[in-house]
Order: sequence, then structure tokens, then C-alpha cells
Amino acid sequence: MQIGIDKIGFYTPHLYVDMEKLALARNEDPGKFLIGIGQEKMAVAPVTQDAVTLAANAALEILTDEDKEKIDFVIFGTESGVDHSKAAAIYVHRLLGLKPEVRAVEVKEACFGATAGLQMARGHIALHPESKVLVLGSDISRYGLNTSGEVTQGAGAVAMVVSAHPKILAIEEPSVYHTEDIMDFWRPVYSDSAYVDGKFSNEKYISFFQNVWKQYREKTGFTLSDFKAICFHMPYTKMGLKALRTVLDETDEDGRERLLAHYETSKSYNKIVGNIYTGALYLSLLSLLEQNTNIEAGARIGLYSYGSGAVGEFFSGILQPGYRKALQPARHQQMLEARKEISVAEYEAIFTTSLPNDGSAVTLPVNEDPATVCLAGIEGHKRQYVNKN
Ligand code: CAA
Repeated sequence: MQIGIDKIGFYTPHLYVDMEKLALARNEDPGKFLIGIGQEKMAVAPVTQDAVTLAANAALEILTDEDKEKIDFVIFGTESGVDHSKAAAIYVHRLLGLKPEVRAVEVKEACFGATAGLQMARGHIALHPESKVLVLGSDISRYGLNTSGEVTQGAGAVAMVVSAHPKILAIEEPSVYHTEDIMDFWRPVYSDSAYVDGKFSNEKYISFFQNVWKQYREKTGFTLSDFKAICFHMPYTKMGLKALRTVLDETDEDGRERLLAHYETSKSYNKIVGNIYTGALYLSLLSLLEQNTNIEAGARIGLYSYGSGAVGEFFSGILQPGYRKALQPARHQQMLEARKEISVAEYEAIFTTSLPNDGSAVTLPVNEDPATVCLAGIEGHKRQYVNKN
């Protein structure tokens, strides 16, 4: 039985900052942000969006009544969750109107959370082939104003329906993984921004890739020529390229050109959204599938997932016949084009806004946010969510 990604939804907030303007405001050469880092725009979440609302908005665009009837497991990967105890998946479960006979959990391992969710979903479908699993990867990345990580922030969510007989990508066996206890990027429970050892994180991202790629090659006998494209976790769009370049001499000139050309396509959405942590790899996959014109069904796509701390995984999938019909490129293009640019000062004001943490009440301006699902306020330490439909 084939199991894999049946649908992919994506949502990013309606505000962004231009990276050239951010570079100038930070006294950096714009070339560093645009070319050296590879980011053109950075999504900014208004106060009415959080990891829950982003995920719900991403899921709303793909779920039919039939999906809602069959989904019996919601797995929410995030590293910017809103509660240390209650799973973000439960808020989303209500906001989407799912049936009560559902397991709903939150999974955490930095940017790896959605991949953990996808692999758990496969196990669940293997046991219950008639059911479907909703896997969410949703985050707002925060390093802080005037930090070296600031240029690699972003906000957004990816929602995937995982099922038997998937319409988009059938995930293959084996998948290979690697874990090491390292401090390359982390966020203590008392901090709303991440701490990072930037250069070390880059080194580990690459060495984990080399490790899992070697394991995968040894287990499968596959080489780079067996892959039409490889998608990478994308904290910023130059990062995956650095890793890919370290193995390109394993293939011939045609192979190098093919993988590099598809890498370019695979960063289309990421370079104008920024790092969405758990969803970043799947946003890259979506970029590749929605923006390429020449990848045929039957092609094998490689996927490299990395979550700081750290866990890396390499796995692959086969594109399914008619997969293009299951995608929504026009809708995503329209959402990205309808966004509003804000100034660096406006972004800084949003970044430094904090919500009450003393039990007092606040009502938020949901009318200023075009999203269907919004955070409407806080009351007695409880977040108040609204689905405008
Ligand atoms: N024109 C073109 N390129 C320029 C330039 C210019 N004018 N000026 C500088 N550059 C290039 C540099 O040569 C460099 O390129 P290479 O990396 O290819 O050598 C690039 O711009 C970046 O310059 P620096 O290395 O000087 O940048 P920095 O020290 O300010 O920090 C960073 C870069 C380490 C990525 C930092 O933004 C950071 O810490 N980001 C957060 C951590 C991160 O994203 N790590 C990735 C791996 S961990 C992970 O994947 C998990 C996750 O999601 C967080």
C-alpha cells in the first residue's frame, strides 16, 4: 500500500518587510541579505496571528467534508507553540470543525517536528488505511531585532493530509535519521526568541546532511542520478545550496545542472516568506511542485529535514500520476501578491508588542487581518480564537 502526501495547504500572513530595506536599516550591504543569505522578503505575523491561527488557515484551504470525516489524528509540529501543556492541535481541531473521535497532539523537535509528524502519520495509516491524518507545521521564527539571525526570520504554516493512495507524493522506505545532543539553536522556556550559534548551526546542518545521505546511499544503493530533485529544510535559501554543493561531485554535469536548476525552483516561496521552521522543508517541496513545469509523475524527490538540537532525516517520495491537479499554484500566487509591505519601523513595532500575561483582558483588531482564523484576544489567561466563516 502506498502512503504519503495527499494534499498540501500553505498560509503566510498578509504583511512583509522588504529585505533590501531591512539591510539598509541595519547598516548592511543589501547584497548580503539578498544574495549571501538569499532572502528577498520576510513575512511578519500581526498580533492577530500565532502558530495556531497560521496552521488553521493553512488547513482550511485544503479540507473537504470527506477529509474531515476521515481525519482521526491531528499532529501539530511547532517550536513556537502557545502553551506548555495543551496541544495547539486541539485549538485547530475545533477551529476546523473536526469530529470528536480524533487524537490531537503537539510534537516538538525544532524544525524537525512536521517530519516527525509525517512519519508518525505513515505508521497510523499503515494500521488504519481508511483513515487520514492532518499533519501541521506552523511557526513564527524570532531571533530578535538587530541580531545576525534577524534576516532569517519569517512566519507561516503548511498543512498536509496524509493518506493511503496519496494524490501528490508516495513516501518510500527506507528513511534514515541521525540524532546528536548539540547546542546550535535553542529557545529556553523563559525566552520568546531563539538563541543560536549561527556558524556552528550551519556546520551541523551540513554535516548531518552528509551523514544521512551516506547512510541512505549505503542502504538503498541509490545515487544522485536516481533523484529528479532534492528539497531541503530552508532556514534561508542559501543554506540548502551549501549542503547540496558538498555532494554534487558524486554526479555528472547533467546531474549537477538538473539538481541545481530544481534547487532554484524549490526556493521560490521560501525566499519571499522567510524561515517558517517546521514547515520550511514542505514549503520548499510546494515551491518545487507548483513552480516547475517539467517534473513528470514517477519522478523521485529527495527530502532532507533538519531540526536543531539536533535531528536530521533523509527520505524520498515518488510523484503520483496527476499530482499537479492536487496543487493550487494560482491561489498561492494570489495570496503572496496580495500581501502588504510594511516599513522596518512598523515591523519593529509589531515585533515588540506583547500580549498580557497577568490575566488581564485584551481585544485584538481582527478586522485589520484578512485571514479567516485569527486570535481575537486574551481573557483570564485564555486565548480567544475566531473563525470568521
Ligand atoms: N554580497 C553578497 N554576499 C555577501 C555580502 C555581499 N555584500 N556580504 C556578505 N555576503 C555573504 C557572506 O560571504 C556569506 O556567504 P557564505 O555563507 O556563502 O560564506 C553570507 O553572505 C552570510 O554572511 P555572514 O556569514 O557574515 O552572515 P552572519 O554572520 O551575519 O550570519 C547566519 C549568517 C549564521 C546564517 C545568521 O543569519 C544566523 O545565525 N541565522 C540563524 C541560524 C540559521 O538559520 N542556521 C541555519 C542552520 S540551523 C537550521 O537550519 C535550523 C533552523 O531553522 C534555525
